[in-house]
Amino acid sequence: MKIQATDKTTLTWTGDTLAVGLFVGGVTVTGELAQLDEQLFGTIKELIAETEFDGKAGNNVVTRVAGDAPVRKIMLVGLGEAEDFKLDSVRLAAAAIARLAKSQRSKTLAVSLPIFDNNPALTAQAIAEGVTLALYQDRRFKSEPEETPLKLETVELLELGDQKAAIAKAEQICDGVILAKELVGAPANSVTSVTLANLAQELASDYNLEVEILEKEDCEKLGMGAYLGVAQASDIPPKFIHLTYKPQGTPRRKLAIVGKGITFDSGGLNLKTGGSGIETMKMDMGGAGATFGAAKAIAQIKPDVEVHFISAATENMISGHALHPGDILTASNGKTIEVNNTDAEGRLTLADALVFTEKLSVDAIVDLATLTGACVIALGDEIGGLWSTDDLLAEQLKTASELGGEKIWQMPLEEKYFEGLKSQIADMKNVGPRQAGSITAALFLKQYVNETPWAHLDIAGTAMIDKESGVNNAGATGFPVRTLVNWVCS
Ligand code: BES
Ligand code: ZN
Ligand code: ZN
Repeated sequence: MKIQATDKTTLTWTGDTLAVGLFVGGVTVTGELAQLDEQLFGTIKELIAETEFDGKAGNNVVTRVAGDAPVRKIMLVGLGEAEDFKLDSVRLAAAAIARLAKSQRSKTLAVSLPIFDNNPALTAQAIAEGVTLALYQDRRFKSEPEETPLKLETVELLELGDQKAAIAKAEQICDGVILAKELVGAPANSVTSVTLANLAQELASDYNLEVEILEKEDCEKLGMGAYLGVAQASDIPPKFIHLTYKPQGTPRRKLAIVGKGITFDSGGLNLKTGGSGIETMKMDMGGAGATFGAAKAIAQIKPDVEVHFISAATENMISGHALHPGDILTASNGKTIEVNNTDAEGRLTLADALVFTEKLSVDAIVDLATLTGACVIALGDEIGGLWSTDDLLAEQLKTASELGGEKIWQMPLEEKYFEGLKSQIADMKNVGPRQAGSITAALFLKQYVNETPWAHLDIAGTAMIDKESGVNNAGATGFPVRTLVNWVCS
């Protein structure tokens, strides 16, 4: 399927399906829409009247145009209130159009949506992202082909001129989002620390990145006791993965993205029980998935920024040599941790990953982690939690997420709550009281970053969804690859 922008208008395009976005209050058929309606023998007016189409977001209708009109089907897509129009409104409308065109068995599709913020390039990029992601389906583990495969051959974005660069950027970003989706969506018998390390090697050779894989012995030498403690019950060796993108010339800034890479979280000896969602815990490498997805996109977009992509990958398993609840581990910065709950393993692996990352002297670190059920309770599956020691970094991430259409909400790093992590015997415990569980998790991570501006994104709710929402179909979302790419490239 090819996506291309064009100077053609709703009046000059001919083909299968023409989709036109309309605001609430914009459903009166005047001007260009009236001219189009005339070409289509009054079908638009009839469609609006018969379906009571009102332009509200999510209200989308389609009908066949009689006779030999220049288009076979006309689709009207609600854009909501004009004053609420955002870049993501464009992306969501494009996703809705693509899904409807697919179900209508359309071969050629034209999309006519308003230009966001006088920026045709950004508008074209968002449409291309919406279309590509909405049509993506993970069929890798199905043995039969889809019963009604996609017929769509071309998608033309009307009145946007030539947007080759913007559409190419959308494709590069979607490449990254889809890699993250495929990593998170694949089960734990297919994505392991070893396959993640192999993937990193492949990304490095395909896209000219530097790659460093630290084996267990290397991690031992660096004193990564917290990470290795989690890894010790697994039969699969831990792999500490470090990919680096370096631009040509002097980088404008140096950034690091660190992803939680637990390829399966059984809970350890604090075993996850029935009803705890243990069968969904292949998603516990959602942070690593988004990290490598972002790497794939960024390596293609080539910003003038150096970016480090890091994940301390392992499983959290049980065996005769598993961590005992109560064990004391020493992280690579010398801090000791009483592991009062082996199911709070992500923060243990991230502790050593953050200490390693800070030694790279970057300007900012962002970590991504499917860290706490508490964050899911607080923010649900549409909104990621954000914690940061740096206001500027937090604002940069909020802007990047708004443009990317991936919602995040800043939560407090309330120091008082660190009292809940005090241990009688070690420097800290890995788990505090039930209250404010996502905040104490963030406060735990904060112990492992000294000076560098740092932000933590808890993506436990957003990495995977049960039913279609926005541009995503049910399953892994690739959250927050678009945000990360926007942040790095800003
Ligand atoms: N991987 C889980 C968090 C999680 C929960 C991710 C739901 C995705 C969906 C994490 O390792 C975990 O088990 N956290 C515990 C922490 C608790 C023991 C303090 C939790 O949230 O229950
Ligand atoms: Zn856990
Ligand atoms: Zn986990």
